[in-house]
Amino acid sequence: MTAFKTAKFKIQGGKPLDGEVKISGAKNAALPILLSTILTSDTVVLKNVPDLADVKTSFKLLQDLGKHCTYDAQSGEAVISGAVTSFVASYELVKTMRASIMALGPLVAFCGQAEVSLPGGCAIGARPVDLHIKGLQAMGAQIKLDDGYIKATAIGSGRLQGGHIVMDKVSVTGTENLMMAACLGNGTTIIDNAALEPEIVDLAHCLNKMGAKIKGEGTPRLEIEGVEKLHGCEHSVVADRIEAGTYLIAGIATHGVVTCLNTLPSSLESVLQKLRQANALITVDGTSITADMRNRQIKPVDVVTAPHPGFPTDMQAQMTVLNTLSDGVSSVTETIFENRFMHIAELIRMGAHIEIRGNTVICEGVPQLKGAQVMSSDLRASASLVIAGLAAEGTTIVDRIYHMDRGYEHIETKVGSLGGIIERIY
Ligand code: UD1
Repeated sequence: MTAFKTAKFKIQGGKPLDGEVKISGAKNAALPILLSTILTSDTVVLKNVPDLADVKTSFKLLQDLGKHCTYDAQSGEAVISGAVTSFVASYELVKTMRASIMALGPLVAFCGQAEVSLPGGCAIGARPVDLHIKGLQAMGAQIKLDDGYIKATAIGSGRLQGGHIVMDKVSVTGTENLMMAACLGNGTTIIDNAALEPEIVDLAHCLNKMGAKIKGEGTPRLEIEGVEKLHGCEHSVVADRIEAGTYLIAGIATHGVVTCLNTLPSSLESVLQKLRQANALITVDGTSITADMRNRQIKPVDVVTAPHPGFPTDMQAQMTVLNTLSDGVSSVTETIFENRFMHIAELIRMGAHIEIRGNTVICEGVPQLKGAQVMSSDLRASASLVIAGLAAEGTTIVDRIYHMDRGYEHIETKVGSLGGIIERIY
């Protein structure tokens, strides 16, 4: 995969997508699982690891910390082995991937200390890490902020202690970071108001295969009994529900018929419900999901984003594109992140009738979008612009697609296999 910063997508729109697409392993599960290998010196074999820029950054980070990593992008198998020899996650790597903050918990749990740069990542609001820090403090870590780094030390025995953490706010990576840290703590840790995302469940399953004692995954109360050490395991990463949702919406927006293979349909319930309300014919067969929109009119759908099992913020931008093409008025309210409407100005340039009112967008559907030159601002915004381009009349150029490369595997091949006309240009 080539991911030059200057790369753009050139899309010839107006062609209904038609066919089957194999959904990859979830980025948001692969990243914490890769970082969880910091907790053991043994060999961890991971399957279904997607070939993404963020995954490559995670390998670089693990290698920087002293781990050995091999990755076969064809088969999606990654093998990670050896003990970490450093406890510093540098600014150079962390600035490109916010998820690197999840090295903090495993490093302090395994090494007794950690230095992790304050993160960068998608420009979707302030995105603090206070919950990660407070949780580690509740497990006995001393935390200092110094030179842009979070410096954590497990005081006393050099091991974290069991603690009772009540998360002030539901946080996905916050829950994951603390859950990983607690695995090697002395005693039992309770995390209340934990996030419920399927990726957290997948991480818990992987950690339990490594010998961790986690109970309650997928519920708001996690109970983690610390163990002396973790060992190697083999694990296959759960399917990417956001990638699946994105391809289903691309099929619907173009009035085609798209089947996503290798999905976990139960993880997409809130999205599928909204797609049915949008008048798509949705069928689920085992691990396959089909959206059929041939000869059907897109209906407006009101959406409010919420933590899982609510409607995911990571599907908000894509859902808005459907609303722009519906035959009525709809509202989309973003409750998780501020500043997550950067795609709206671009969609307006493509002829959408949208107005931003606080954290809500009001959309009046139009019969057709028109191709234009547009700019990606973050990962999911870029996905929405590609969908808009596939549905629009004429040619769309989407700039700064390095955002999209962070989270969507082999985009041109997958869109191309569905009959979409998309090309990477420089
Ligand atoms: C994760 C996902 C991201 C998704 C998001 C919400 C990964 C790698 N990324 O991001 O794709 O969009 O969940 O589903 O899994 N917050 C605080 N303090 C903190 C942490 C978070 O106030 O210490 C706030 C955030 O600003 C936000 C809310 O909590 O308003 C939820 O954020 P969080 O769930 O932590 O998002 P991420 O884990 O960063």
